[in-house]
Amino acid sequence: MSLCTAGQAGPTELIFYVNGRKIIEKNADPEQMLLSYIRKRLRLTGTKYGCGGGGCGACTVMISTYEPVSKKIRHCSANACLLPICSLHGVAVTTVEGIGSSKTRIHPVQERLAKCHGSQCGFCTPGMVMSMYALLRNHPEPSWEQITSALAGNLCRCTGYRPILDGCKTFCKEPSCCQSKENGKCCLDQEDKLKEEEISTKLFSPDEFQPLDPTQEFIFPPELMTMAEKPKRTLVFQGERTMWISPTSLKELLELKATYPKAPLIVGNTSVGPEMKFKGMHHPIVISPTRILDLNVVRYTDKGLTIGAACSLAVLKDALTKIVTESPGEKTQIFRVLLHQLKTLGGQQIKNVASLGGNIMSRKSTSDLNPILAVGNCTLSLASRERTRWIPLSDIFANGIDNNTFSPEEVLVSVHIPYSRKGEFVSAFRQAQRRENALPIANAAMRVFFVEGTDIIMDFGIFYGGIGSTTIYAKQTCEALRGRPWNEEMLDEACRLVLKEVSLPGSAPGGKVEYRRTLIVSFLFKFYLEVLQSLNWKDPHQYPNIPEKYGSALQDFQTQMPQTEQIYQKVNPEQLPRDPVGRPVMHQAGIKHATGEALYCDDIRAVDEELFLAVVTSSRAHAKIVSIEASEALREPGVYDIVTAQDVPGKNEFFFYSDAEIIFAKDKVICVGQIVCAVVADSAVHAKQAAAKVKIEYDALEPVILTIEDAIKHNSFFEPQRKLEKGNVDAAFETVDQILEGEIHVGGQEHFYMETQSVLVVPKGEDKEIDIYVSTQHPALIQEMVSSCLGVPANRIMCHVKRIGGAFGGKIGKAGLLASVAAVAANKTGHAVRFILDRGDDMLITGGRHPVVGKYKVGFMNDGRIVGVDAKYYVNGGCTPDDSILVTEVALLKMDNAYKIPNLRCYGYACKTNLPSNTAFRGFGFPQSGLVTECWITGIAAKSGLSPEKVREINMYKETERISYIQELHPENLINCWKECMEKSAYYSRKTSVEEFNKQNYWKKKGIAIIPMTFPFGINPGFLSQAAALVHIYTDGSVLLTHGGIEMGQGIHTKMIQVASRELKIPMSNIHFCETSTTTVPNACASVASIGTDVNGMAVKDACQTLLKRLEPIISKNPKGTWTDWIKEAFEQSINLSSTGYFRGYNADMDWEKSQGHPFTYFVFGAACSEVEIDCLTGDHKNIRTDIVMDIGCSINPAVDIGQIEGAFVQGIGLYTMEELKYSPEGVLYTRGPDQYKIPAVCDIPEQFSVSLLSSSQNPYAIYSSKGMGEAGLFLGCSVFFAIWDAVAAVRKERGLSGTFTLNSPLTPERIRMACADQFTELSAKDEPVSFIPWAISI
Ligand SMILES: Cc1cc2nc3c(=O)[nH]c(=O)nc-3n(C[C@H](O)[C@H](O)[C@H](O)COP(=O)(O)OP(=O)(O)OC[C@H]3O[C@@H](n4cnc5c(N)ncnc54)[C@H](O)[C@@H]3O)c2cc1C
Ligand code: FES
Ligand code: FES
Repeated sequence: MSLCTAGQAGPTELIFYVNGRKIIEKNADPEQMLLSYIRKRLRLTGTKYGCGGGGCGACTVMISTYEPVSKKIRHCSANACLLPICSLHGVAVTTVEGIGSSKTRIHPVQERLAKCHGSQCGFCTPGMVMSMYALLRNHPEPSWEQITSALAGNLCRCTGYRPILDGCKTFCKEPSCCQSKENGKCCLDQEDKLKEEEISTKLFSPDEFQPLDPTQEFIFPPELMTMAEKPKRTLVFQGERTMWISPTSLKELLELKATYPKAPLIVGNTSVGPEMKFKGMHHPIVISPTRILDLNVVRYTDKGLTIGAACSLAVLKDALTKIVTESPGEKTQIFRVLLHQLKTLGGQQIKNVASLGGNIMSRKSTSDLNPILAVGNCTLSLASRERTRWIPLSDIFANGIDNNTFSPEEVLVSVHIPYSRKGEFVSAFRQAQRRENALPIANAAMRVFFVEGTDIIMDFGIFYGGIGSTTIYAKQTCEALRGRPWNEEMLDEACRLVLKEVSLPGSAPGGKVEYRRTLIVSFLFKFYLEVLQSLNWKDPHQYPNIPEKYGSALQDFQTQMPQTEQIYQKVNPEQLPRDPVGRPVMHQAGIKHATGEALYCDDIRAVDEELFLAVVTSSRAHAKIVSIEASEALREPGVYDIVTAQDVPGKNEFFFYSDAEIIFAKDKVICVGQIVCAVVADSAVHAKQAAAKVKIEYDALEPVILTIEDAIKHNSFFEPQRKLEKGNVDAAFETVDQILEGEIHVGGQEHFYMETQSVLVVPKGEDKEIDIYVSTQHPALIQEMVSSCLGVPANRIMCHVKRIGGAFGGKIGKAGLLASVAAVAANKTGHAVRFILDRGDDMLITGGRHPVVGKYKVGFMNDGRIVGVDAKYYVNGGCTPDDSILVTEVALLKMDNAYKIPNLRCYGYACKTNLPSNTAFRGFGFPQSGLVTECWITGIAAKSGLSPEKVREINMYKETERISYIQELHPENLINCWKECMEKSAYYSRKTSVEEFNKQNYWKKKGIAIIPMTFPFGINPGFLSQAAALVHIYTDGSVLLTHGGIEMGQGIHTKMIQVASRELKIPMSNIHFCETSTTTVPNACASVASIGTDVNGMAVKDACQTLLKRLEPIISKNPKGTWTDWIKEAFEQSINLSSTGYFRGYNADMDWEKSQGHPFTYFVFGAACSEVEIDCLTGDHKNIRTDIVMDIGCSINPAVDIGQIEGAFVQGIGLYTMEELKYSPEGVLYTRGPDQYKIPAVCDIPEQFSVSLLSSSQNPYAIYSSKGMGEAGLFLGCSVFFAIWDAVAAVRKERGLSGTFTLNSPLTPERIRMACADQFTELSAKDEPVSFIPWAISI
């Protein structure tokens, strides 16, 4: 069929609106997504790239459409990264720039997010703003549930979500407090509770907020309404490689499908889009059926609901809600089960665009809808040019994914979802790595229909997802059970049969095999109980109820509006009001974050003739490079050049230790993901496409070392290995009552900073000077590395950093290597080169936190006293040293956490493996070694019969001690934090309640744990803590402040401006920070190890004091003068109005030979108590409550500091309970995006979350008595880990499983479920490890 016969088609102009501006695109390319279009073409850079696959929400925009039939305008959030521009004909798009700006008026959402301290690095903020904005357009006074579901698809790696939710909560209609007047008090009346006048709980003041006025919003462009009313014509857009056809009638669609059977239908593009982007799939023709009425029907009939295949999941939800509200309960079981599953399916942005038809027809194993639709006897209306027919949906899963139930020419027109019948029970289950916005690990839908008046099975349906390649029907099991009564024998038989039928081989893709087998039967058991309960409700005489203790197995975790509190010390009443130090000042860039005006590296405008770079990485873990064949890549459109190791004019390798860090692999590759060469092209897309065409031939090299066990076997370690010794361990073991031996594996962690690694290198064309704009924590290192690789002195390399979108330790050496790659390319081509890693490459290439195996032998007395510890820490460093030795050292030095260990011997080994090289990550080894310590503390408790908190208390530092390496520690504040945390959390009474709950519930258990923390602060050697600042005062009195610290969300510039404001005695508004640059502050140390504020603050103070000293004579001469008067006068007196400031750093030393030294400066103390509830049948858990008390000295900015504690804590929850890196047995990283790697989301923060800063704490070592605490809070996330442990221990005790046990980190649903051993874990056959190659290995 020609296009003309399909309608009046022809090349078409694409017309849509962005922020009220009409866009006419004459060359719309179907492969172009809205995100790159608005960022690059329209230069609206507020909308961010975070993952490109719909998983992070950084790219959220609002789309508005006019529906001519209903005459309604629909507003909804959507992910711009998955929206093809061609799908936007007639649509109005609103981006963050469109709703408000600091130049005109900021929108209340923007204002409240900023003022409630909801932004740190600010990279996620525009997406958050837009999700909330879209919600408010539909619901100006949203409920709490609406807010959390609107934000479920938005990730933030910095804040821990609490302040974001606080900002959003202010729009809620219902009061944001508990509404309970326990003891006559509201939960929010904390200030009264606290009595002490100097304590505050308010970090922002709602009185300042402007009201939300819906009449101020953009109106929908009338032209688009007129367009929508006009008769439609076929749209055709021809791009470089793909044609987009959007027909207007079903007939035309069927003609097109007959002509182009292979062309996919694109509706939401949430399935096809990721496949094209991440799996390299290409479709020359795509068809968009969204404008065809037949595919958009919503029809309520007397038999049920008929809904068009192109309807979005959000429309489906609305339709189901309506029918559930209006129909009797027994008829709507399937609808209610669907609604329940839709709650957690994807984020709101996905639900708004993803279609029902797309979900069904993709036939993904992970579809949450297909099992329910299949079990619910739904039918599909299929049409092709030749025929139309209805088929049961279950048919399409009859024989797996490749069955021929429908032909490629067929189109799904609509789906009929019938009412449920009387006597029918339907239910569905799912378990995912994260409760919301995560594909299921496994799911199931089940339905049973009994012979009337009996419990005899007449009809049974069981469908599973997440098990095979598509939804699976357990047909034989269901048939075999027909005629059986609903009792335990039937259940036993059902479990046995279903495990046989729905078999999962040991090597099944996705791994978690035994867990998934267990889920298969656990879901079945849940269904069994549900039905029993329903039978009992119907006829209590005939059918006994389930045991009371079992009731909780059927209840979902209850969710409520989080109750949070933040407690800090108010400033001294005598402090001048204009002195901002100690006050909760908003992040200096908060408003810019929220309006999208804050600029990050890739927001820098295009430089003339700039080129884009994409890297080609190794696909082998250890191999010789035989050849690199790039001729095909060079022929690709837009390609400019290929860059390899041969093009490096200076050094291709950097030696910080005996092994090298390498820019381009030369002769051999040492991990999958190592950069071999790079392609530069005229666009990022062309560079990427061409990079895929470079062919590299390898010869395998032996050995391939991936795991810590492999490294131990091959004695593969980086040098030096470290040992820390104190007392006499061997002698101590002779005297102890008991010895505990064991080991624990602590998994690694991906930084998942929201802004991926980015660099723009601009050669200046003179004297080999280049400007480098880079997302790094360490510009001086970038300068050093680029200077070395180009063979150009450092004084020609100008490195600039405005701000970065998170880093957490990941943007130091790795950023240096990536900048070197781009610099070599810029040097070779003479062009500016932009190199922005996409999420997948970033996760693949740049490494993360080190996985650690801790092996320990601990000797202790029966009263719980630790006498000696002998431990070994094996740290998986990956293929190059990076910071692995330092991380190992810190892991050793901090391993004692808060405990006195009289005799200690521990070894640290940095394993050299063929994995991407791991690097610094918030906490730097302490989160791992601290967890090992708390693990054996828990073991001692189990063996000695004491409670874990008693063992902690007994062994906690109590008086001034010389700790392992002779440094003095004064533990008063550790004890104060512990006691205050005990008190604030009401630990003992809650522990009793937990025990009570556990007695009454068999399948759900609660757990509680309290963990103390000593976090030694400092960096060794001491010269790495030197810092400098440069302060200029201009003749108008304005001040330009510069220092060596990097703004990555920790609010350093805000704090530095607070310092300068106090020192110069001028308002913060007079002081501006422009950028961190090697041109203004040379040789600045990295912004790492929590030291940024401490050391740069000292330097800023020094510079300001110098300036003030120079001004003093003028001020004393004219004390009533203004700042501007004095500056003017100073200039006229030729007084230098510019000063540097310097801080030489802390003294620090460590003699590893003698195990002695003073590696740290002071200690940050803290304690956290967490309570959780676990579902013993699925392994799911809920964070109920956390109370944190931290000693951070005198906070310079409590809002920023509390934000750091909460953000780090939630990152710690991720590390210890959720984030799981998966590698293949060949060393290939599977987890390369938010779809596979789950970081905490809104649903994961504790429902009650309190952070208190210990008052009356002083610290003589740091500026204004503050303490650096960017990292410390992360470790406290392990309180959740040990609360889960506590719950698991309760399960095991009840099930009669005696003896100590160890749980590895992270405590994922899989690990929790498998530790809660029961009849179902027993049933799920274990495979002999040697009998198969697993899908993933534990590194
Ligand atoms: C971040 C993210 C999270 C997700 N989470 C979940 C989850 O938790 N649970 C879950 O179940 N799903 C989840 N999904 C999957 C999502 O629900 C599906 O991708 C979506 O429903 C597919 O619809 P679409 O309109 O986007 O499909 P498209 O990508 O537009 O098309 C998908 C396929 O379906 C075919 N197709 C579409 N319509 C028809 C039709 N009418 N007739 C014939 N063929 C048709 C197309 O040819 C194409 O091959 C998630 C997706 C993303 C991106
Ligand atoms: S960039 Fe679009 S969702 Fe992550
Ligand atoms: S502020 Fe949310 S990602 Fe940084």
